[in-house]
Parts: sequence; structure tokens; C-alpha cells
Amino acid sequence: MIEVEGLTKRYGRKLAVDHLSFQVRPGVVTGFLGPNGAGKSTTMRMMLDLDNPTSGSVRIDGRMYHELADPLKHIGALLEAKAMHGGRTAYNNLLCLAQSNRIPRQRVDQVLDMVGLTAVAKRKSKGFSLGMGQRLGIASALLGDPEILMFDEPVNGLDPEGIHWIRTLMKALAAEGRTVFVSSHLMSEMALTADHLIVIGQGRLLANTSMADFIQQNSRSFARVRTPQPEQLRDALRGAGLAATETDNGTFEVEGSETEALGELAATHRITLHELSAQRASLEEAFMQMTAEAVEYHAHAGPGEGAPPAGPVPGQVPAGQGAPGAGQAQGPARGQQPPAPQTWGQDWNQGQDQRSKGA
Ligand SMILES: Nc1ncnc2c1ncn2[C@@H]1O[C@H](COP(=O)(O)OP(=O)(O)OP(=O)(O)O)[C@@H](O)[C@H]1O
Ligand SMILES: [Mg+2]
Repeated sequence: MIEVEGLTKRYGRKLAVDHLSFQVRPGVVTGFLGPNGAGKSTTMRMMLDLDNPTSGSVRIDGRMYHELADPLKHIGALLEAKAMHGGRTAYNNLLCLAQSNRIPRQRVDQVLDMVGLTAVAKRKSKGFSLGMGQRLGIASALLGDPEILMFDEPVNGLDPEGIHWIRTLMKALAAEGRTVFVSSHLMSEMALTADHLIVIGQGRLLANTSMADFIQQNSRSFARVRTPQPEQLRDALRGAGLAATETDNGTFEVEGSETEALGELAATHRITLHELSAQRASLEEAFMQMTAEAVEYHAHAGPGEGAPPAGPVPGQVPAGQGAPGAGQAQGPARGQQPPAPQTWGQDWNQGQDQRSKGA
């Protein structure tokens, strides 16, 4: 188990990690998700005592990293940057690590076999492909047979076969009861691998939830309606009390209504439709939405500007019934404004909610 408590890292004026608190539990794969620059690698480096926190702490099986007698036997990690000596063979790289950590020599053969590098064990690692390098890094993480494993963006740059292999390996390690913590900036990848999710943006905790709950909360369904008569449709939707977001000129995303009802509404008002389709927001979209808000929050929070309004925005269409999270849902805030990429009011609330939950 990894316990992160109030972890904070400041680089000059940049707050890379901002009071993160969460636990990573054994027996499941925990995905560590956030866009580029969110603070994932920084957090992982602090977990391994490779960087000093500005404040807060990390405990590995109840102890600080430096208190662990044989750290490699507790926690193994594959970090982004390759830490291997290119002039050494794969075997010798691992042997050096084993010898300096009181790990028996035969374990080197075992891990080389586990990652499928036995045939190239005597080759210098500088000649390795990206995939082979990743496998060697994973071999070094597994060397001490640790209960906790941490992988920073392990599938970056890998081909589908390599991605599949790493995914299978992580699941197998978790199934053995180990703690597996893996970072990624791709939701689609995490959706296939992780059982639990820690999402950060701009160094802050945005969500700490099971994958099942994340899917349930974020797989919103809505209808897409495209019309050459946006003014009329906007009025008709408003009249029907439906929450709608105009994503593009003449394209609306409507929550809380079936396509049948929308078709009939359009017919009643003699509105021509060029598209009427049922949609489901993908997890990738949900993730981008969640993290984009965090970026937006920081980027736009200049003097006199704070977080976007949490309450209803004057002039917006009220939220429809039945949409997930409808209790806190807002309608569109910019029906009369130029299209903007992020328009789901309720996600704002959700993000805020999760931030405060995690804080
Ligand atoms: N050594 C450092 N000195 C100064 N700033 C740093 C340092 N390391 C990281 N940062 C900054 O801290 C922030 C978080 O970086 P970090 O590498 O942890 O993000 P990340 O989530 O791992 O991103 P990525 O998905 O791109 O790997 C970034 O703004 C980065 O520029
Ligand atoms: Mg990183």
C-alpha cells in the first residue's frame, strides 16, 4: 500500500503537485491519470524519494522510503527516463542492480525470462528498441520481487503487441495481490487496464474513484441535433425545458430527451434537421472535460477572475430530467455565444465536487 498525505512540490513559482492525498491499495491496478504536465511523474519521483516534497509525505507499507532496509524488495518502478547503462548488456545492467541490492543472481535470469528478453540478455542495452528498453526497465522493477510496482507511462511509444503485453502483466501482478500504480495521459488505455483511478490536473486531485463508478458517472448519453435553423431550435428546446449545449453553429447536444421526442418537437415547430442521433460521451471525452477544466481554472484565474460560476447562469435553459447527475446539472451557459469546446455545466460542478472531495 502507498499512502500519500498532503503531498506538495513547488519548483520555483510552479506548483507541480498541490496537496495530493490518496492511497494506492493492493490487489488492483490503480491508474494515475492526468494530462501532460499534471504532476504524475513528479508525484512518482517523490514516492521513490528521488525528489524532495515541499511538504507532505509518502508512506510505503507504513514507512518512509528512506526507512526501508531493502527498498527494491518493497517497491519496484519503471520511470519515464531510462536509467539503464547503455554500454552494459541487459544481463549486466540487472546484475549490477541485483548485487547492489542483495538480490540473488538467479533472480536476474528469472526476470529476463518474465519480460521475454532471455534471447538478447547478452546484448548491450543501447541497441535496444523502445519496446525492448521498456521490457528491460520492467525487469529491473520486478527484480526485488516487490509487493508494490509503479510504472510511469509504460506504454508510451509501444506497438499494440507491446501495449497488450504490459497491460496483461500489470493485471497479472495485481491479481497476485500486489499494489500496481500506473500513470498515463490516455483514458482509453486506462479504461482497459485500471480497476481504480486517481485523476489529477495541475497538480491537484480531481477524482479518486473506481473505474466502474467513473464509467457510470461519466457515460452520459445525449442526443445530437443539427439544424440550419439554430434560433428556432434554441427557442423550441428552451420552451420544452430541455438542457442543450450548442457545440457548433447549428449543432446542439441535448440531454434528458430521446431522439423520438426531439424529432417530434422539431416537426411541431417546422424545424428542418440535418442530423438527429443518440450519442454517448466516451470516457476519453469525460477525462478531457474533467482535466481541461482544471487547466482552464488555472490559466484563466487572473485578477478578478476565479473559478467559473458554480450556480446557474442567467439566461440558460434549465437542466432536463433523467440525465446522470441531473441533481446538480446545469444547462448551457452560452446559448447566445460563439461555440466553445467545453460547455457542459454539470461537469464543472462535478470537477469542483471531486476536487473538494479529494482535498
Ligand atoms: N525538475 C523540474 N524543475 C522545474 N519544473 C519541473 C521539474 N519537473 C517537473 N516540473 C514541472 O512540474 C509540472 C509537472 O510535471 P510532471 O513531469 O510531473 O508532469 P506529468 O504529469 O508527468 O506530465 P507528462 O504526462 O507530460 O509526463 C510541469 O509543469 C513541469 O514543467
Ligand atoms: Mg510524466
